[in-house]
Amino acid sequence: MMLACGAVAACNPSELTDAEIETAKSLTLAELPPVPPDPTNRVADDSAAAALGATLFFDPAMSIDGEVSCATCHQIDNQFQDGLPRGHGIATTDRRTMPLAGVAYSPWQFWDGRRDSLWAQALTPLEDLREHGGTRTFYAHLIAERYADRYERIFGPLPDLTGLPVHAGPRGSLTHKAAWARIPPERQEEIDTVFANIGKAIAAFERTILPEETRFDRYVAALASGKQPEGGAAFTDLEREGLRLFIGKAGCINCHNGPRLTDDHFHNTGVPAVDGLPEDRGRAQAVRQVISDPFNCFGPFSDGTEADCGELRFMVPGGEELERAYKTPSLRGVASRPPYMHAGQYRTLEEAIDHYSRAPEAPAGKSEIPALVFTDRGRAALIAFLKTLD
Ligand code: HEC
Ligand code: HEC
Repeated sequence: MMLACGAVAACNPSELTDAEIETAKSLTLAELPPVPPDPTNRVADDSAAAALGATLFFDPAMSIDGEVSCATCHQIDNQFQDGLPRGHGIATTDRRTMPLAGVAYSPWQFWDGRRDSLWAQALTPLEDLREHGGTRTFYAHLIAERYADRYERIFGPLPDLTGLPVHAGPRGSLTHKAAWARIPPERQEEIDTVFANIGKAIAAFERTILPEETRFDRYVAALASGKQPEGGAAFTDLEREGLRLFIGKAGCINCHNGPRLTDDHFHNTGVPAVDGLPEDRGRAQAVRQVISDPFNCFGPFSDGTEADCGELRFMVPGGEELERAYKTPSLRGVASRPPYMHAGQYRTLEEAIDHYSRAPEAPAGKSEIPALVFTDRGRAALIAFLKTLD
């Protein structure tokens, strides 16, 4: 036995110090609080709304060509993402599709946080010409034709849609915008209300998509209760070394912290720009967009009051640190969903870790990543640890 173990320390899981176990515990699902309430969405926790939201999420009729649903890019058996460098609906977008587990915990949506609620987020791809490509009157007609009963039981009567064009909306093509401009403001507001409610139903569904327990959670739970982790919960030396680097010298935990391994903040980590894409300033360009979004927390479609808008009221409005800053992604499930970063810049986990080792200068703004050169062993250990989060 002694021989097989080599150095005694390598056989003993309690070689993580009590302080390290405490820190590791802060990253486990056991520490995840209940999904925070969303007072801006009165049906956030209504099960009929969540069921309608699920139907809409998977319905390809919710697009201009009848072929794109949210699930085209956010695939249920693929961590609600698509494994592509950049999402593809009607056409290809400029960023990578984000996985959705635990998304209801995040105060800001998108890589740059340009929406401040899940329901406001859901409306954006519906009108994006490269994603669903639909228009507001189109979605209102669709709800009236296919889902009137279910909608009305949750939200009350649908407005009268007679005489409204099939396609009209403030964000569509020039023709669709012109058609929208001809609709009187009272009727526009009725259509906008239906549109907002579509987002609220979808958000109620998304609130039920939660991260699942992993080997890492079981390993730390065993250590924290003073037990020897057994079977699948035991860590190899390499995995333990990776965990120790992650919470220690490598400083990953400075941003990838809490039970979802994200601080939900925006950071410039010097990820390179992609040739041929329009300039992407990350958070720096999103602040203005969230303020001008009619579906934001301050807007007329929110069910809350200004007191519920803490994030928006105290939002950092500018500064160099927002330049090319992106939301820290959760690392749960990360090993099985390449590629990585906001535009799929890295194909493998090896390339992603290599990025931290090289710590390149940012294309704009200033990278917050310190230059830490990892040894081959350190790099392998970090990867081995990240795989335990699957
Ligand atoms: C064409 C592919 C595509 C379709 C269709 C699509 N998305 Fe996305 N989704 C993306 C991409 C790409 C991003 C990141 C975009 C960005 O940051 O600019 C994203 C981001 C998100 C986010 C933000 C997650 C986070 O952590 O911030 C949510 C939530 C989301 N999508 C939900 C939806 C819903 C709901 C629908 C349907 C109404 C939908 N998506 C349709 C590709 C898609
Ligand atoms: C200063 C904050 C910060 C630190 C420190 C940090 N990260 Fe990140 N991490 C981010 C941000 C922000 C992104 C997304 C960047 C982008 O897409 O441009 C990211 C992306 C990643 C990704 C890709 C995930 C995905 O879904 O695309 C991995 C893997 C990762 N980090 C691992 C690590 C590891 C391992 C360490 C420690 C060596 C670390 N990070 C340190 C903020 C940080």
